[in-house]
Formats: sequence, C-alpha cells, structure tokens
Amino acid sequence: MPNNSLNYHNCKCNIDVMHLQSQDIPLVARLYKRSFQNHFLGHMGHKFLTLFISEFVNSDANSGYVAKYRNEVIGFVLATTSDNPFREFYRDNFMTLVYLTISRFFKDSFIRSHITKRLGHVHVALKALFSFSVRVRDSREKQEICLSRQPRLLALAVDRSYRGLGVANELTAEFCREMKELGFKKVGLSALPWNQRAISFYIKDGWEKEEASETSISFSRLL
Ligand SMILES: CC(C)(COP(=O)(O)OP(=O)(O)OC[C@H]1O[C@@H](n2cnc3c(N)ncnc32)[C@H](O)[C@@H]1OP(=O)(O)O)[C@@H](O)C(=O)NCCC(=O)NCCS
Repeated sequence: MPNNSLNYHNCKCNIDVMHLQSQDIPLVARLYKRSFQNHFLGHMGHKFLTLFISEFVNSDANSGYVAKYRNEVIGFVLATTSDNPFREFYRDNFMTLVYLTISRFFKDSFIRSHITKRLGHVHVALKALFSFSVRVRDSREKQEICLSRQPRLLALAVDRSYRGLGVANELTAEFCREMKELGFKKVGLSALPWNQRAISFYIKDGWEKEEASETSISFSRLL
C-alpha cells in the first residue's frame, strides 16, 4: 500500500499498534529481512527469522509489538526485559540453529564474511544448552529480579513505504507505555553508528545518548 493514502496527519488514527501474535510472525520475518539487509540476522533466512521472532510472542521476558494498516504489518518492535533473552531460543532449537547456520554459511557470502564477529553467540548457545534455570521462589522475588533490570528495545523497523509518518514513534510509545505500567523507570537500546536515520529518529523520539564506541551507540529513555 503506497503512502498516498496515509499521510502524517491521518496516520495516527489509521494505524493500530498491538502485541505481536503468532499469525504476524511470517509477515514480521519478511519485514525484518527487507529492513535489515546490512545486518547478520537479516541474512539468516526465513526459517531462522521465524523461529527468532516467535520468541517475542507470549513470552514472560520478551515482548513484540506490530503496527498495522488495513491489517498489513507495516512496522514492529522487538524488546526484552531479560539480561539473557535468547537462552530458551538457543536451548530449544539448538540442532535446528546449527543446521540453519551451516546452510546459510554455504549459501550467503555476507554470512561467511561476518560469522567470525558472531562467534560469541556460539559460546552463549552452548552455555544455554548445558545450563539449568535457577528456580525463583515466589512471584514477589520474580518481580523484584525483573524490575532490577532495564528493558531493552532490540529491533525496530518500519516498512520503507511508510517511513516518515510517525509509525516508529507509535511503536516506541506503546513499548514505553507498557514498560512504565509494569513498573520500570528506564529503557535502553543500541544503534549502529552508521545508521544515521535511526539515530536521528531516536534523538527526535526522546532517547538520550549514553555511550558511543566505534561499533555501537547506546541510548536510554526515562519513563
Ligand atoms: C529507524 C526507523 C524505524 C525510523 O522510522 P522512520 O519512519 O524512518 O522515522 P522518522 O521518519 O519519523 O524519523 C526519522 C528522522 O531521521 C531523519 N531522516 C529522515 N530521512 C533521513 C535520511 N535519509 N538519512 C538520515 N536521516 C534521515 C529525520 O531527522 C527524520 O526526522 P524528521 O521527521 O524530523 O525529518 C526506520 O527508518 C527503519 O525501519 N529503518 C530500517 C531498520 C533500522 O535501521 N532500524 C533501527 C535499528 S537500531
């Protein structure tokens, strides 16, 4: 759907932002691939992305939101309150992930040239495979552990045809609103230093730069 039926002024009344649901997963996977063409995960293929995005549906620690226009997914946010959001992902899908990574390695030169930067994930995946979850005694303890963490926005994207219309702002607003409602005081994210459009958006959207290195800029936002 082209932009001409949706402009900045009528955008807010015509888009719906809601929790990511199972039926949205294939659409979000496709949008992820199109939006992150220069990122490792954007090259991991549809099956991998489908598994990855499923981690953000009905999860205690992770959350996903989609923006829809006439029932089409036009944007999404993936976020977490966990300091190890992919432990279950690695543990439950270990052999499938090994198979998918090897097959992408042979199919995609981007994966071949960037795989060495991702070797840390092999360590995390192996640790997840052999670790046992620590049993949390009661729901109060669970809530205290959870609130001591800082929720992080892990991915945000808006379909190219709908950028510049405030959709990204609607998505981050819903994420922040829900985190505030859960009792969190601050949220964070990191962006790649060359992603100028994302950086401009975050500054405009009320995020404050915290730290910058050659490979990452971190932002936070008070709720
Ligand atoms: C990041 C993203 C979600 C922002 O959504 P958006 O609809 O483009 O956001 P907006 O247009 O509201 O804000 C972007 C701001 O960037 C700036 N901008 C616009 N076009 C730009 C460009 N080509 N280059 C650099 N900055 C640009 C402007 O300051 C703009 O604000 P303005 O509305 O005041 O002009 C979207 O660009 C996207 O999906 N990008 C690909 C995925 C991605 O990189 N996600 C972020 C990962 S950390």
